[in-house]
Amino acid sequence: MNFSVAVLPGDGVGPEVVAEGVKVLEAIGAKFGHAFELGYGIVGGNAIDQCGEPLPKETLDLCLKSDAVLLGAVGGPKWDDPKAKVRPEDGLLALRKKLRLFANLRPVKVYPSLINSSPVKPSVLAGVDLIIVRELTGGLYFGRPKRRWQSSKGRAGVDTLRYSEHEIRRILNIGFQLAQGRRKRLTSVDKANVLETSRLWRQIAEEVSQDYTDVTLEHMLVDTAAMQLIRNPANFDVVVTENTFGDILTDEASVLSGSMGMLPSASLAPEPGNKGPRYPRFGLYEPIHGSAPDIATQGIANPLATILSVAMMLRLSLGLEREAQTVESAVEIALARGHRTADIADDNATALTTGQMGDTIAKILSTE
Ligand code: IPM
Ligand code: MG
Repeated sequence: MNFSVAVLPGDGVGPEVVAEGVKVLEAIGAKFGHAFELGYGIVGGNAIDQCGEPLPKETLDLCLKSDAVLLGAVGGPKWDDPKAKVRPEDGLLALRKKLRLFANLRPVKVYPSLINSSPVKPSVLAGVDLIIVRELTGGLYFGRPKRRWQSSKGRAGVDTLRYSEHEIRRILNIGFQLAQGRRKRLTSVDKANVLETSRLWRQIAEEVSQDYTDVTLEHMLVDTAAMQLIRNPANFDVVVTENTFGDILTDEASVLSGSMGMLPSASLAPEPGNKGPRYPRFGLYEPIHGSAPDIATQGIANPLATILSVAMMLRLSLGLEREAQTVESAVEIALARGHRTADIADDNATALTTGQMGDTIAKILSTE
Protein backbone atom coordinates (compact mmCIF):
# COMPACT_ATOMS: atom_id res chain seq x y z
CA MET A 1 0.00 0.00 0.00
CA ASN A 2 0.96 3.66 -0.35
CA PHE A 3 1.21 6.02 2.59
CA SER A 4 2.32 9.62 2.97
CA VAL A 5 4.37 10.63 5.97
CA ALA A 6 5.44 14.17 6.88
CA VAL A 7 8.96 14.12 8.34
CA LEU A 8 9.98 17.00 10.61
CA PRO A 9 13.53 16.41 11.91
CA GLY A 10 13.67 19.64 13.98
CA ASP A 11 16.68 20.67 16.08
CA GLY A 12 19.61 19.16 17.98
CA VAL A 13 19.68 15.39 17.80
CA GLY A 14 16.28 15.45 16.04
CA PRO A 15 17.69 15.03 12.51
CA GLU A 16 20.04 12.25 13.65
CA VAL A 17 17.38 10.11 15.30
CA VAL A 18 14.77 10.81 12.61
CA ALA A 19 17.18 9.57 9.94
CA GLU A 20 17.24 6.20 11.74
CA GLY A 21 13.46 6.17 12.07
CA VAL A 22 13.22 6.71 8.32
CA LYS A 23 15.78 3.96 7.72
CA VAL A 24 13.60 1.53 9.65
CA LEU A 25 10.44 2.72 7.91
CA GLU A 26 12.07 2.07 4.54
CA ALA A 27 13.22 -1.38 5.64
CA ILE A 28 9.60 -2.13 6.59
CA GLY A 29 8.44 -0.84 3.20
CA ALA A 30 10.88 -3.13 1.41
CA LYS A 31 9.96 -6.17 3.49
CA PHE A 32 6.18 -5.81 3.29
CA GLY A 33 5.83 -4.12 -0.08
CA HIS A 34 4.62 -0.68 1.05
CA ALA A 35 5.62 2.66 -0.40
CA PHE A 36 6.08 5.48 2.09
CA GLU A 37 6.06 8.84 0.40
CA LEU A 38 8.10 11.15 2.64
CA GLY A 39 7.66 14.92 2.66
CA TYR A 40 10.24 16.87 4.67
CA GLY A 41 9.37 20.05 6.57
CA ILE A 42 11.05 22.47 8.95
CA VAL A 43 9.88 23.19 12.50
CA GLY A 44 11.33 24.70 15.69
CA GLY A 45 14.57 26.63 15.98
CA ASN A 46 15.81 25.88 12.47
CA ALA A 47 12.51 27.18 11.10
CA ILE A 48 12.90 30.37 13.15
CA ASP A 49 16.38 30.78 11.65
CA GLN A 50 15.20 30.16 8.12
CA CYS A 51 11.94 32.09 8.04
CA GLY A 52 11.34 33.78 11.38
CA GLU A 53 8.58 31.48 12.59
CA PRO A 54 8.70 28.09 14.34
CA LEU A 55 5.84 26.57 12.32
CA PRO A 56 5.77 27.83 8.72
CA LYS A 57 2.54 27.41 6.81
CA GLU A 58 4.16 25.00 4.31
CA THR A 59 5.04 22.66 7.16
CA LEU A 60 1.52 22.75 8.56
CA ASP A 61 0.03 22.16 5.10
CA LEU A 62 2.41 19.26 4.53
CA CYS A 63 1.26 17.64 7.81
CA LEU A 64 -2.40 18.22 7.01
CA LYS A 65 -2.15 16.33 3.75
CA SER A 66 -0.17 13.40 5.17
CA ASP A 67 -1.37 10.20 6.82
CA ALA A 68 0.96 10.74 9.78
CA VAL A 69 3.81 12.93 11.02
CA LEU A 70 7.22 11.83 12.30
CA LEU A 71 8.98 14.47 14.39
CA GLY A 72 12.44 14.58 15.99
CA ALA A 73 12.73 17.29 18.63
CA VAL A 74 12.74 21.07 18.85
CA GLY A 75 14.65 23.64 20.89
CA GLY A 76 18.15 24.52 22.01
CA PRO A 77 20.15 27.11 23.92
CA LYS A 78 20.44 29.31 20.86
CA TRP A 79 16.73 30.16 21.05
CA ASP A 80 16.33 30.09 24.86
CA ASP A 81 16.31 33.80 25.65
CA PRO A 82 13.29 34.33 27.97
CA LYS A 83 12.68 37.66 26.25
CA ALA A 84 12.53 36.13 22.77
CA LYS A 85 9.29 36.76 20.89
CA VAL A 86 9.15 33.33 19.32
CA ARG A 87 10.43 30.04 20.67
CA PRO A 88 11.00 26.66 19.00
CA GLU A 89 8.58 25.04 21.45
CA ASP A 90 5.83 27.32 20.12
CA GLY A 91 6.13 25.42 16.84
CA LEU A 92 5.45 22.11 18.56
CA LEU A 93 2.56 23.54 20.58
CA ALA A 94 1.05 25.11 17.45
CA LEU A 95 1.35 21.77 15.64
CA ARG A 96 -0.44 19.99 18.47
CA LYS A 97 -3.21 22.57 18.52
CA LYS A 98 -3.65 22.97 14.77
CA LEU A 99 -3.55 19.22 14.12
CA ARG A 100 -5.92 18.72 17.10
CA LEU A 101 -3.61 16.16 18.69
CA PHE A 102 -5.46 15.92 21.98
CA ALA A 103 -4.37 12.43 23.07
CA ASN A 104 -0.74 11.83 23.87
CA LEU A 105 0.16 8.19 24.55
CA ARG A 106 3.44 7.51 26.30
CA PRO A 107 4.05 3.83 26.97
CA VAL A 108 6.70 2.90 29.52
CA LYS A 109 8.17 -0.53 29.19
CA VAL A 110 11.11 -2.00 31.03
CA TYR A 111 13.12 -4.29 28.78
CA PRO A 112 14.50 -7.16 30.87
CA SER A 113 17.92 -6.68 29.29
CA LEU A 114 18.00 -3.03 30.43
CA ILE A 115 16.81 -3.57 33.97
CA ASN A 116 20.21 -2.58 35.34
CA SER A 117 20.32 0.69 33.35
CA SER A 118 17.75 2.37 35.57
CA PRO A 119 18.67 3.97 38.90
CA VAL A 120 15.55 2.28 40.29
CA LYS A 121 16.07 -1.16 41.90
CA PRO A 122 15.47 -4.18 39.63
CA SER A 123 13.07 -5.66 42.20
CA VAL A 124 10.85 -2.58 41.82
CA LEU A 125 11.07 -2.64 38.02
CA ALA A 126 10.04 -6.25 37.48
CA GLY A 127 6.84 -6.37 35.46
CA VAL A 128 6.57 -2.65 34.72
CA ASP A 129 4.35 -2.09 31.68
CA LEU A 130 2.29 1.05 31.85
CA ILE A 131 1.02 3.73 29.54
CA ILE A 132 0.42 7.35 30.38
CA VAL A 133 -2.35 9.08 28.46
CA ARG A 134 -1.71 12.80 28.61
CA GLU A 135 -4.27 15.39 27.51
CA LEU A 136 -2.32 17.52 25.04
CA THR A 137 -4.31 20.49 23.74
CA GLY A 138 -5.83 21.97 26.89
CA GLY A 139 -4.99 23.10 30.39
CA LEU A 140 -2.23 25.49 31.39
CA TYR A 141 -0.43 25.18 28.08
CA PHE A 142 -3.18 26.85 26.11
CA GLY A 143 -5.64 28.52 28.54
CA ARG A 144 -6.17 32.27 28.22
CA PRO A 145 -5.31 34.71 29.72
CA LYS A 146 -1.64 33.88 29.39
CA ARG A 147 0.64 36.87 29.70
CA ARG A 148 3.11 38.93 31.71
CA TRP A 149 2.70 42.56 32.67
CA GLN A 150 4.06 45.35 34.81
CA SER A 151 1.81 46.22 37.74
CA SER A 152 2.24 49.07 40.22
CA LYS A 153 3.66 46.53 42.71
CA GLY A 154 6.12 44.94 40.31
CA ARG A 155 6.01 42.36 37.55
CA ALA A 156 3.20 39.81 37.38
CA GLY A 157 2.23 36.90 35.15
CA VAL A 158 -0.70 34.58 34.61
CA ASP A 159 -1.39 31.20 33.00
CA THR A 160 -4.87 29.72 32.99
CA LEU A 161 -5.87 26.15 33.85
CA ARG A 162 -9.11 25.60 32.02
CA TYR A 163 -10.87 22.46 30.83
CA SER A 164 -14.22 21.89 29.21
CA GLU A 165 -16.36 18.83 29.77
CA HIS A 166 -15.85 17.81 26.15
CA GLU A 167 -12.06 17.90 26.47
CA ILE A 168 -12.10 15.85 29.67
CA ARG A 169 -14.59 13.31 28.39
CA ARG A 170 -12.76 12.54 25.15
CA ILE A 171 -9.38 11.95 26.80
CA LEU A 172 -10.96 9.77 29.49
CA ASN A 173 -12.60 7.72 26.74
CA ILE A 174 -9.18 7.08 25.22
CA GLY A 175 -7.88 6.00 28.64
CA PHE A 176 -10.77 3.59 29.24
CA GLN A 177 -10.54 2.14 25.73
CA LEU A 178 -6.82 1.49 26.10
CA ALA A 179 -7.39 -0.13 29.50
CA GLN A 180 -9.98 -2.44 27.94
CA GLY A 181 -7.32 -3.80 25.62
CA ARG A 182 -4.81 -4.24 28.46
CA ARG A 183 -5.07 -5.19 32.14
CA LYS A 184 -8.33 -3.25 32.59
CA ARG A 185 -7.10 -0.81 35.22
CA LEU A 186 -7.32 2.94 34.76
CA THR A 187 -5.75 5.43 37.18
CA SER A 188 -7.09 8.94 36.71
CA VAL A 189 -4.59 11.43 38.13
CA ASP A 190 -5.72 14.84 39.36
CA LYS A 191 -5.39 17.36 42.17
CA ALA A 192 -9.01 17.28 43.25
CA ASN A 193 -8.19 18.37 46.81
CA VAL A 194 -7.20 21.80 45.46
CA LEU A 195 -8.23 22.42 41.85
CA GLU A 196 -11.72 23.00 40.45
CA THR A 197 -10.74 21.57 37.06
CA SER A 198 -9.65 18.40 38.86
CA ARG A 199 -12.95 18.12 40.73
CA LEU A 200 -14.76 18.41 37.40
CA TRP A 201 -12.36 15.84 35.92
CA ARG A 202 -13.06 13.37 38.74
CA GLN A 203 -16.80 13.77 38.40
CA ILE A 204 -16.69 13.20 34.65
CA ALA A 205 -14.38 10.19 35.12
CA GLU A 206 -17.03 8.59 37.34
CA GLU A 207 -19.70 9.28 34.71
CA VAL A 208 -17.64 7.95 31.81
CA SER A 209 -16.75 4.82 33.81
CA GLN A 210 -20.39 3.75 33.53
CA ASP A 211 -19.71 2.99 29.86
CA TYR A 212 -16.75 0.77 30.75
CA THR A 213 -17.92 -1.50 33.52
CA ASP A 214 -15.15 -4.02 32.78
CA VAL A 215 -12.47 -1.44 33.67
CA THR A 216 -11.56 -0.66 37.28
CA LEU A 217 -11.22 3.10 37.76
CA GLU A 218 -9.14 4.55 40.55
CA HIS A 219 -8.46 8.22 41.30
CA MET A 220 -5.06 9.33 42.51
CA LEU A 221 -3.76 12.74 43.49
CA VAL A 222 -0.84 13.82 41.35
CA ASP A 223 1.62 14.12 44.24
CA THR A 224 0.80 10.58 45.34
CA ALA A 225 1.09 9.40 41.74
CA ALA A 226 4.57 10.92 41.50
CA MET A 227 5.58 8.88 44.53
CA GLN A 228 3.85 5.65 43.47
CA LEU A 229 5.46 5.76 40.03
CA ILE A 230 8.82 5.19 41.69
CA ARG A 231 7.68 3.16 44.69
CA ASN A 232 5.41 0.68 42.98
CA PRO A 233 5.35 1.27 39.21
CA ALA A 234 4.28 -2.27 38.34
CA ASN A 235 0.92 -1.49 39.91
CA PHE A 236 -0.05 0.90 37.11
CA ASP A 237 -1.69 -0.16 33.87
CA VAL A 238 -3.17 2.91 32.15
CA VAL A 239 -2.79 6.38 33.68
CA VAL A 240 -4.84 9.28 32.32
CA THR A 241 -4.17 12.88 33.26
CA GLU A 242 -4.24 16.52 32.21
CA ASN A 243 -1.55 18.24 30.19
CA THR A 244 0.89 19.64 32.77
CA PHE A 245 0.67 16.69 35.17
CA GLY A 246 1.25 14.38 32.20
CA ASP A 247 4.29 16.35 31.09
CA ILE A 248 5.90 15.99 34.51
CA LEU A 249 4.89 12.39 35.22
CA THR A 250 6.10 11.11 31.84
CA ASP A 251 9.61 12.48 32.37
CA GLU A 252 9.59 10.84 35.78
CA ALA A 253 8.32 7.55 34.36
CA SER A 254 11.00 7.54 31.68
CA VAL A 255 13.59 6.93 34.39
CA LEU A 256 12.06 3.50 34.90
CA SER A 257 13.02 2.39 31.41
CA GLY A 258 16.68 3.25 31.94
CA SER A 259 16.93 6.11 29.45
CA MET A 260 14.87 8.92 27.95
CA GLY A 261 16.27 7.58 24.70
CA MET A 262 13.98 4.55 24.91
CA LEU A 263 10.53 6.10 25.12
CA PRO A 264 8.30 6.70 22.10
CA SER A 265 5.08 8.67 21.93
CA ALA A 266 2.01 9.08 19.81
CA SER A 267 -0.21 12.17 19.69
CA LEU A 268 -3.58 11.40 18.19
CA ALA A 269 -6.28 13.52 16.61
CA PRO A 270 -9.97 12.80 17.12
CA GLU A 271 -11.29 10.22 14.81
CA PRO A 272 -13.64 11.73 12.23
CA GLY A 273 -17.11 11.93 13.73
CA ASN A 274 -15.80 11.16 17.24
CA LYS A 275 -17.52 7.82 17.10
CA GLY A 276 -15.26 5.73 19.22
CA PRO A 277 -12.11 3.72 19.46
CA ARG A 278 -11.46 3.48 15.76
CA TYR A 279 -8.06 3.24 14.16
CA PRO A 280 -6.18 4.10 12.05
CA ARG A 281 -6.41 7.79 12.78
CA PHE A 282 -4.15 10.75 12.12
CA GLY A 283 -1.27 11.21 14.54
CA LEU A 284 2.13 12.70 15.20
CA TYR A 285 4.93 10.48 16.46
CA GLU A 286 8.00 11.62 18.33
CA PRO A 287 10.49 10.41 20.91
CA ILE A 288 9.71 11.86 24.33
CA HIS A 289 13.27 13.12 24.75
CA GLY A 290 14.22 16.63 23.74
CA SER A 291 16.76 17.97 21.27
CA ALA A 292 19.71 17.15 23.62
CA PRO A 293 21.92 19.97 22.26
CA ASP A 294 24.82 18.81 24.46
CA ILE A 295 25.26 15.64 22.40
CA ALA A 296 23.98 16.86 19.01
CA THR A 297 26.14 16.16 15.92
CA GLN A 298 28.22 13.59 17.81
CA GLY A 299 26.28 10.62 16.43
CA ILE A 300 25.79 9.09 19.87
CA ALA A 301 22.07 9.73 20.48
CA ASN A 302 19.88 6.68 21.02
CA PRO A 303 17.49 6.36 18.06
CA LEU A 304 15.34 3.64 19.66
CA ALA A 305 12.71 6.05 21.00
CA THR A 306 12.20 7.35 17.46
CA ILE A 307 12.26 3.86 15.97
CA LEU A 308 9.66 2.74 18.52
CA SER A 309 7.63 5.85 17.62
CA VAL A 310 7.69 4.63 14.01
CA ALA A 311 6.23 1.34 15.28
CA MET A 312 3.42 3.25 16.98
CA MET A 313 2.81 5.16 13.74
CA LEU A 314 2.57 1.95 11.75
CA ARG A 315 0.03 0.61 14.23
CA LEU A 316 -2.11 3.62 15.09
CA SER A 317 -2.10 5.82 11.98
CA LEU A 318 -1.32 3.42 9.14
CA GLY A 319 -3.18 0.36 10.42
CA LEU A 320 -0.14 -1.91 9.98
CA GLU A 321 -0.12 -4.03 13.13
CA ARG A 322 2.14 -6.80 11.85
CA GLU A 323 4.67 -4.27 10.63
CA ALA A 324 4.57 -2.48 14.01
CA GLN A 325 5.23 -5.73 15.82
CA THR A 326 8.10 -6.49 13.47
CA VAL A 327 9.82 -3.24 14.46
CA GLU A 328 9.18 -3.78 18.16
CA SER A 329 10.52 -7.30 18.14
CA ALA A 330 13.62 -6.22 16.20
CA VAL A 331 14.29 -3.71 19.00
CA GLU A 332 13.83 -6.40 21.61
CA ILE A 333 16.15 -8.79 19.78
CA ALA A 334 18.84 -6.11 19.38
CA LEU A 335 18.74 -5.25 23.08
CA ALA A 336 18.72 -8.89 24.13
CA ARG A 337 21.83 -9.43 22.01
CA GLY A 338 23.57 -6.64 23.87
CA HIS A 339 23.48 -3.89 21.23
CA ARG A 340 23.63 -0.58 23.09
CA THR A 341 24.05 3.11 22.41
CA ALA A 342 26.12 5.10 24.93
CA ASP A 343 23.17 6.09 27.15
CA ILE A 344 22.38 2.45 27.97
CA ALA A 345 25.83 0.87 27.60
CA ASP A 346 27.85 -0.36 30.57
CA ASP A 347 31.04 0.56 28.87
CA ASN A 348 31.40 3.29 26.29
CA ALA A 349 34.04 1.45 24.28
CA THR A 350 31.51 -0.96 22.82
CA ALA A 351 28.66 1.52 22.37
CA LEU A 352 27.06 1.79 18.94
CA THR A 353 26.63 5.09 17.16
CA THR A 354 23.17 6.37 16.30
CA GLY A 355 23.58 5.15 12.73
CA GLN A 356 24.90 1.73 13.75
CA MET A 357 21.91 1.17 16.01
CA GLY A 358 19.55 2.11 13.15
CA ASP A 359 21.42 -0.27 10.83
CA THR A 360 21.20 -3.05 13.42
CA ILE A 361 17.43 -2.74 13.75
CA ALA A 362 16.91 -2.45 9.98
CA LYS A 363 19.06 -5.52 9.39
CA ILE A 364 17.35 -7.65 12.04
CA LEU A 365 13.90 -6.82 10.76
CA SER A 366 14.86 -7.38 7.12
CA THR A 367 16.61 -10.68 7.56
CA GLU A 368 14.94 -12.46 10.46
C1 IPM B 1 7.06 17.21 25.96
C2 IPM B 1 7.92 18.45 26.02
C3 IPM B 1 7.10 19.63 25.51
C4 IPM B 1 5.93 19.80 26.47
C5 IPM B 1 7.89 20.93 25.37
C6 IPM B 1 9.07 20.78 24.44
C7 IPM B 1 7.01 22.08 24.92
O1 IPM B 1 8.42 18.65 27.30
O2 IPM B 1 6.60 16.86 24.87
O3 IPM B 1 6.86 16.60 27.01
O4 IPM B 1 6.05 20.44 27.52
O5 IPM B 1 4.86 19.28 26.17
MG1 MG C 1 7.94 17.08 28.66
